[in-house]
Amino acid sequence: MSPDPLGIALIGGGFMASVHSRAARAAGARIIGVTSSTPQRSRDAAERVGTDRAFDDVDALLADPAVDVVHVATPNATHHALTVRALAAGKHVVCEKPLATTVVDAVDLEQRATAAGVVAAVPFVYRFHPMVREARARVASGQVGQLFSVQGAYLQDWLLAARDDNWRVSTEQGGASRAFADIGSHLCDLLEFVTGERLVRLQAVTRMVFAERASTGPVSTEDLAGVLAQTGGGAVVSLLVSQVAPGRKNGLVLEVHGAIESLRFEQERPEELWIGRRTGSELQLRNTDELHPDAARLSVLPPGHPLGYQDAFTAFAADTYAAVRGAASEGLPVFADGVRAARITEAVLASAASGAWIDL
Ligand SMILES: NC(=O)c1ccc[n+]([C@@H]2O[C@H](COP(=O)([O-])OP(=O)(O)OC[C@H]3O[C@@H](n4cnc5c(N)ncnc54)[C@H](O)[C@@H]3O)[C@@H](O)[C@H]2O)c1
Repeated sequence: MSPDPLGIALIGGGFMASVHSRAARAAGARIIGVTSSTPQRSRDAAERVGTDRAFDDVDALLADPAVDVVHVATPNATHHALTVRALAAGKHVVCEKPLATTVVDAVDLEQRATAAGVVAAVPFVYRFHPMVREARARVASGQVGQLFSVQGAYLQDWLLAARDDNWRVSTEQGGASRAFADIGSHLCDLLEFVTGERLVRLQAVTRMVFAERASTGPVSTEDLAGVLAQTGGGAVVSLLVSQVAPGRKNGLVLEVHGAIESLRFEQERPEELWIGRRTGSELQLRNTDELHPDAARLSVLPPGHPLGYQDAFTAFAADTYAAVRGAASEGLPVFADGVRAARITEAVLASAASGAWIDL
């Protein structure tokens, strides 16, 4: 007989609360309730995510014994304090990226989670596209060969005009880094996940296009960042991250070049992996029976029925809940990965400020 569904609760009632709630349901969990920044917003959020229970505040949510896993989906600067409380209440935690706005706070959360002995995951969900797993398996099996170079980008345009604004623009709510912490963190996680190599040093240039934005007022967070880096294996890496690239919506692209072949994954075309060769380049489609086992595991619909971002989120939630039940989850992004992203983000800002190469 299958065990009772896990009970999950959401802190935050915005865009990601909806994504998390759909993923949690599809992964077999029961949504116990939600809380947001005020009791009224909590009620609105409960209606939006389709749950009866709006907790008036975080204390009420954490006091409910039916809640096994707390999902923190609030503005970045609140992650540390909320997650400290959830861990102290003995809950398993999914905390959104960036895990914290400083390395010190991210390390603190990782240590508290380890001491609590709970599952503590960060939704670096692009890891859960089957074709990303396929790329990772090809690198690991030696099919790509020694890595020479990596090119990556994460480009958006939703902050293109000075009138565009959001809490992410504010240092107080979003943290010292904006574009890089927000989306560069996904890109670097994906790069290290697929290549199995770590960035060991980097140099960065950042640019702020507007000194003021509509409601934030004076701005000090970057709109874009360019990064030159090197991996432990010697691969040369170039990355561009921007929230002011006209026409680009969620242009996350990772291309790796090895001695034998190249691989290219584009988040907006997640059913494909381009395999480049001097002769015989091909576009590999998600044909489940042609994939490496870890990619085939996540290929939950027959080819031709496209899987996308929400499906990747569901796979992340399913693996998180499996880990809560004691299963080993291959490639689950955990708080240590959140710390890693925070370290790279701080190095990017430090290099941009000093002009120096920074060792990681
Ligand atoms: N993993 C991903 O793919 C992904 C994608 C988008 C956003 N995110 C992350 O998710 C988080 C939330 O982003 P979003 O786009 O949903 O933002 P949002 O602005 O749409 O929603 C934030 C919500 O948090 C609530 N809130 C604010 N302070 C709170 C507090 N102290 N207690 C409880 N609720 C509070 C707000 O009322 C709002 O409902 C961010 O950290 C962001 O970086 C992750």
